[in-house]
Amino acid sequence: MKILVIGAGYVGLVSAACFSEFGFEVLCVDQDTNKIAGLNDQTDLKVPVYEPGLKDLIAKNKKEQRLKFSADPGAVFSLLQEATLIFIAVGTPSRRDTDEADLKYVETVIDSLATCLSPDHERTVVMKSTVPVGTTHRMAARFRNKNPLLADKVVFASNPEFLREGAAINDFMRPNRIIVGIESGHRLSSWAQTQLEAVYRPLYLFETPLLFMDLASAELTKYASNAFLATKVAFINEMADIAEACGADIQKVAQGMGLDARIGQKFLHPGPGFGGSCFPKDSRALVALAKEKSVPSLLVEAVVLSNVRRLDRILNKILHSMGNAVKGQKMAVLGLAFKPQTDDVRESPALDIIEKLIQRGALIQTYDPSAMSNAKTYFRGIGRDEPIVWAHDPYQAIMGCSTVILVTEWNEFRSLDLNRVQHLMQGPPGQKNFVDLRNVYELKEWQNLDINYLSVGRRIIYADPLCSTHHQ
Ligand code: UGA
Repeated sequence: MKILVIGAGYVGLVSAACFSEFGFEVLCVDQDTNKIAGLNDQTDLKVPVYEPGLKDLIAKNKKEQRLKFSADPGAVFSLLQEATLIFIAVGTPSRRDTDEADLKYVETVIDSLATCLSPDHERTVVMKSTVPVGTTHRMAARFRNKNPLLADKVVFASNPEFLREGAAINDFMRPNRIIVGIESGHRLSSWAQTQLEAVYRPLYLFETPLLFMDLASAELTKYASNAFLATKVAFINEMADIAEACGADIQKVAQGMGLDARIGQKFLHPGPGFGGSCFPKDSRALVALAKEKSVPSLLVEAVVLSNVRRLDRILNKILHSMGNAVKGQKMAVLGLAFKPQTDDVRESPALDIIEKLIQRGALIQTYDPSAMSNAKTYFRGIGRDEPIVWAHDPYQAIMGCSTVILVTEWNEFRSLDLNRVQHLMQGPPGQKNFVDLRNVYELKEWQNLDINYLSVGRRIIYADPLCSTHHQ
């Protein structure tokens, strides 16, 4: 079975690499010629996204001739004709005017498939991009309308992806479940099921549940899963605020809640609010969908709002800790990516925090192990490149700052030398602040330091000004 993956973005690349690792022959196409040139570079393979393990997997499967990349429509054409399983993995960003997903890339792919697929093979076209419920069905109609000759030769399926950035290869190779929606009533429906069973057969060894359902249910499963997880995060964040106000410790509360197997430990880490390319966008799209169908989702609407307000709350906390005197203050921001193990800064709370602090006149020094370049591009885009100092390591970022804000829980921020931090920070005794928005440190580690330690949903550890002199 030959597989075509359309889109060399995050999902497309991980899927293409993993399918080829399963032993299938895979062609991954993208219209971005630079991206494909980098992926085809024989001496210096360039993978356009940072994902642990992905580069090695691509290199290995390219070497073994199972994985190919192309942007050339001519070259693609013959390989395209041989593929019987076609995955669409192009982007579906939020539209600027509404919160609906923008389907222009998906539509372009559907139209070009309708024009160039030959009718001599049966094929399954599988939607892997996250698309609003009903889209795959509509795209099947669009495709058949454009080329009625292919109507009974091509069957449509939906196979949403549940990969987490930073853990994508493992998530693909050891998923909790695989969801497949197949259009009903097509003469190829059960053939499509057999094809998808075959492509995921390598995972049977791990007894991965493979759930077949209708198209709409598969599409909704994706949105419902992300919205549920986003709800868990928003919920624990609100509990953290309550814990802070009541003198409770959210870490203990989350542990106590999570040990109930019905609740579970995961996604109960409080922080600056969820970000990334999925939770915010997908929650908003679900709200828009529910409204459009006249069944508004009050709960998901509240989650979206709660997450937006979260940022104001976090900002107030930072400003309050500084007695609202931000203008001209040097402040360090550790972490720019929306989470560790990725260079993705889309909807990253760190960027919003920096932007708001700069607006108030703060002088920002920042460091992130892998997201600096994307963050620079973002700030250049909004014309805020100038006042930011891009440091080479966390200590350089901290140097001379009165406040340090840890936003992304990269491992290298988990065991900073706190005495060194204290010496590098600058400010009158008792007025240096370390704001840990991910609770990576234990409270007791901050005793005997001249730094106020503010975390999320836990009591403040106040600076001990005498310690400044002890450690000089
Ligand atoms: C998320 C889902 O976890 C994946 O299953 C899904 O496939 C993916 O979206 C997608 O739709 O493509 P991802 O966005 O990579 O994956 O990141 P997560 O690890 O889920 O984190 C999302 C956000 O929630 C991050 O900002 C993270 O910092 C935050 N979060 C997560 C918390 O603040 N606390 C937690 O306990 C967990």
